[in-house]
Amino acid sequence: MRLLGIETSCDETAAAVVEDGTKVLSNEIASQVDIHARYGGIVPEVASRQHTLSIIPIISAAMKGAGVTWDDLDGIAVTSGPGLAGSLLTGVNAAKAISFARGLPLISVNHLEGHIYANWLSGALPEFPLLCLIVSGGHSDLVLMRGHGNYTMLGRTRDDAAGEAFDKAARVLGLGYPGGPAIEKAATGGNDTVNLPRAWLKGTDDFSFSGVKTALLRLSEEGKIASAADAAASFQAAVVDVLVTKTIAAAQANHVRQIALCGGVAANKALRQTLLARSALPVLIPPMLLCTDNAAMIAACGYFRFRDGKVADLSLDVVPNLKLTEN
Ligand code: KG4
Ligand code: ZN
Repeated sequence: MRLLGIETSCDETAAAVVEDGTKVLSNEIASQVDIHARYGGIVPEVASRQHTLSIIPIISAAMKGAGVTWDDLDGIAVTSGPGLAGSLLTGVNAAKAISFARGLPLISVNHLEGHIYANWLSGALPEFPLLCLIVSGGHSDLVLMRGHGNYTMLGRTRDDAAGEAFDKAARVLGLGYPGGPAIEKAATGGNDTVNLPRAWLKGTDDFSFSGVKTALLRLSEEGKIASAADAAASFQAAVVDVLVTKTIAAAQANHVRQIALCGGVAANKALRQTLLARSALPVLIPPMLLCTDNAAMIAACGYFRFRDGKVADLSLDVVPNLKLTEN
């Protein structure tokens, strides 16, 4: 079964063709990062306009890359939330138009669920119960997955998401946008020598990253940051330490078989390496390109939803604050 996936929830216009939810036939991404970089962050209206310009060429490229025609497709999976309303609308309307014109089933996918299903695209299939750490620009969630589509939210961030904290810290250190890759790059030339706080929130699976970000801001305002590289390395170490320690504790407490890492921050090598080194359980991590926003993960998730009979109709609307457990 071949599904076309469409993803436009934030600032990447993406389309992909995936077979049986596990095999990527094509994965095309038009990034807007250079356009938003000049503003130091994503400008929602600019993002929607760019999606409108890129959506048809990117879908055509995905179809061509996979060597398929409309007749070879079995359905269209599209992100309907969470994300920026104007951005989501472009993808959802494109998917509805294709579904209507070609008589193909339409499958609505939660973006966060998509991030989790990036783990089905790397060869080995995840085993349940699975603990998922979703770390992106908008989320830091610990989710227990007992089966396909079966989610229990164990914990979440109480303030900044991990990716958001990376982005803000990079701004404080003058390292540019997007902050995650900028901090990671700067950190390679530095050492973890700046003492930064870690919020453990003991007795819960929740996270908090505003304290470490504010501590960095205070040091910067007081002129106490001698080396941006050391500050970046220390910030990264503090965030990674909390994410890894709490994920391993939740995995043990819930007796899971495996841990799956996903979301844009999962592209961070220090996070990947630390989790792999410290976990006694098998750890699944998608390849870099499938960690950040892409449509292959949406098509993969769409396949398992379709298999369970979860099909949308043309009344599908976007839900900017869609929760993982609501879809
Ligand atoms: O999942 P994603 O592509 O988009 C959202 O759904 O939010 O995640 C984007 C976030 C940004 O905050 C970005 O700074 C962060 O992921 N990120 C990273 C790295 N690459 C992207 N954070 C740390 N290290 C990285 N290498
Ligand atoms: Zn994302």
